Amino acid sequence: MDSTRRPRILFVYYTYTRQALKVVEAMAVVLRDRGCEVRQAGIEFTDKRWAERFSRFPLRHPYLDLLGMLPAQLRGATGEIRIPDEAREGEYDLICVGSPTWFFKPSVPVRSFLKSDEAGRLLDGKPFAAFVVCRRYWSINLKAVKKLGTKRGGEYVNGIHFSYAGGQVRSLLSLLSYFGKGENRERYLGIKIPPTNLKPDYVEQARAFGNELADRLEADEPTARPARANGPIGLN
Ligand SMILES: Cc1cc2nc3c(=O)[nH]c(=O)nc-3n(C[C@H](O)[C@H](O)[C@H](O)COP(=O)(O)O)c2cc1C
Repeated sequence: MDSTRRPRILFVYYTYTRQALKVVEAMAVVLRDRGCEVRQAGIEFTDKRWAERFSRFPLRHPYLDLLGMLPAQLRGATGEIRIPDEAREGEYDLICVGSPTWFFKPSVPVRSFLKSDEAGRLLDGKPFAAFVVCRRYWSINLKAVKKLGTKRGGEYVNGIHFSYAGGQVRSLLSLLSYFGKGENRERYLGIKIPPTNLKPDYVEQARAFGNELADRLEADEPTARPARANGPIGLN
């Protein structure tokens, strides 16, 4: 890493209901405050077999639209995506992959990215971290991201997950209700349900994780310590 420049971090993620995006934004605030240069690359899901259903929110047919992704998820399919320029060009000191869980695994768009030539170029020889957003099932997804990223030459450094409120049944009812109605409701099918999506403490957790990443970058490169953005001798 060139010691005269600030550490560069890239967040690359897919997001449908903007939960992964919220996590990225919370982490980015901390990292910028710690003197890092942060870029964001939201992958677009463009594959004509599946993209149309995710082009609107709420889903038109929540059960069919969700279950329609099951075969692709089970076979670990990849599909057409658009990768933003931020992830096509440039050198980063650390890459953080944001992966929503779809049927236990990384979603088709995240898997497609991790298997792309662009991911190979980006990750080869570089440290990478990952976070999972999910209703409940995070570990298979996180392990898969770690494995795919490592296969592309990346060095996995850390991971975190964010899951939603409620037990097995109620959290699922909440999610189905939200996908169908586009907002949190008190009840679904007559059953009282908790709010879905990130729990309020996600900001604190995301910030702590962002700080850990910044600590790591400082430790890696003592001559290029990220200075606090508003500190007296910042590198900004
Ligand atoms: C097709 C599909 C399948 C899903 N399957 C699971 C699942 O198996 N386990 C789980 O915990 N959450 C599952 N979810 C919920 C997502 O993990 C959650 O909506 C997502 O993390 C939200 O992230 P985003 O707003 O950034 O897209 C699924 C969501 C979709 C759209």
